[in-house]
Amino acid sequence: SGSRLVLGIETSCDDTGAAVLDEKGVILGECLHSQKEVHLRTGGIIPSVAQRLHRENIEHVVREALQRSGVEPSQLTAVATTVKPGLALSLAVGLEFSQRFVRQHKKPFIPIHHMEAHALTARMLHPIAFPFLVLLVSGGHSLLAVARGVDDFLLLGHSLDEAPGDTLDKVGRRLSLTKHPQCYTLSGGQAIELLAKEGDRTKFPFRTPMGQTLDCCFSFSGLRNQVTMTIMKKEAEEGVEQGTLLSCVNDIAAATLHTVATHLAKRTHRAILFCKANHLLPLTSPTLVLSGGVASNQYIRKALTIITETTGLRLLCPPAKFCTDNGVMIAWNGVERLREGKGILPPNVDICYEPK
Ligand code: KG4
Ligand code: ZN
Repeated sequence: SGSRLVLGIETSCDDTGAAVLDEKGVILGECLHSQKEVHLRTGGIIPSVAQRLHRENIEHVVREALQRSGVEPSQLTAVATTVKPGLALSLAVGLEFSQRFVRQHKKPFIPIHHMEAHALTARMLHPIAFPFLVLLVSGGHSLLAVARGVDDFLLLGHSLDEAPGDTLDKVGRRLSLTKHPQCYTLSGGQAIELLAKEGDRTKFPFRTPMGQTLDCCFSFSGLRNQVTMTIMKKEAEEGVEQGTLLSCVNDIAAATLHTVATHLAKRTHRAILFCKANHLLPLTSPTLVLSGGVASNQYIRKALTIITETTGLRLLCPPAKFCTDNGVMIAWNGVERLREGKGILPPNVDICYEPK
C-alpha cells in the first residue's frame, strides 16, 4: 500500500518497546519487554541493570514488532526513537540501535521527546483537537501542560521533588507491601490502591501539599515524610520491627492515596481556571487528558472526574496499556510529526542527543 509506515522505539526507562504504525495510527505490530519484575526485586531501578536488560532485548523486540506487522525494514518511511528525557544509560541503547538501523536501511530519523509522546497518545484513540490540557502522572513524571501542537507544549506545572508513582512505590516499600499475600506482584501504587479500599482515610489526616503556593506545581516528598513518620510512630507503639506493621496498613494506604489524589485534583483545578482565564482552551469541548501509570488508579480518576465535571471539561484517559511506556506512543508521535513534516532528520545524519 502507499501508506507511510513508522517504526517506533522506546528504551528511556525500564521498558523495551517497539511498534509499527501506519499513518492513520493503526498498530500493525508491536512488542514490549518489561523489566518491572527485576526492578521490583531490587527495590528500584539500577541504571546499569536496566541498560544490560535493554541490550539483551532490543534486537528481538524490534524484530518481533516488524515480523508481527509484516513490514520489511525497506518499506518503512521513518524510524522514531525516544531521545529524552530518561535514564542516560537506557536511552543510549535505543539510540545506538536506531543509529545502526537507520544507517543500514537508509531511513529518515525522528527524535522523540518521551513526555510529548505520552501527551499525544490519546489522539491516536480519540479525535482531540489542539489545544488540550494534559496531566501526566507516573513513576517518573508529574506535569500539567497545554498541548498546543505536535511540537508546541506550554508547561504549567511539574513536580518540585519526586513523582507521585515514585512516592507510592517508596511508601509501599517502607510498608513491605510486596510481602502481603494479595500484593506480591503489584507495584507500590497498585498495592496501595488495593489496600486503601479496606482502609479509613480519616484515621490519618495528612496535610495536602503546597496549600499556600499559588502555582500548578506538585510536591510529594513532604507527604512521604509525613507518612514515614506515622509508620515509625505506629511501629514504636506496637513494638514491631521496621516494615512489619499490620494493624493500620489499610488506613495509612487510604490516607496516602487520598492525599495524593487531592493534591493532583487541586493543582489540576487551578490549571483549568488559569487556562479559562487566559483563553488557552477551546470553548467547545475543552479536554483534559490524563495519562501515565498512576492514571490507572480509580480513586485518582474519580477525584479528577469531580474537577472536570464541575469545570465543564471532558476527561479522557487512555486504557492502561497506552498510559504506560511502550513503542506505540513513540511511533504515534512519529506519525504526527511525519504528517506535519516537523522534526524529521534525513538519512545518514548523526543522531545527537542530550539526555536529561
Ligand atoms: O508509566 P509507568 O508504567 O512507568 C513510568 O513511571 O514511566 O508507571 C509506573 C508507576 C509506578 O510508580 C506505579 O506505582 C504506578 O505507576 N502505578 C499506580 C497504579 N498502577 C501503576 N499508581 C497508583 N495506582 C495504580 N493503580
Ligand atoms: Zn513514561
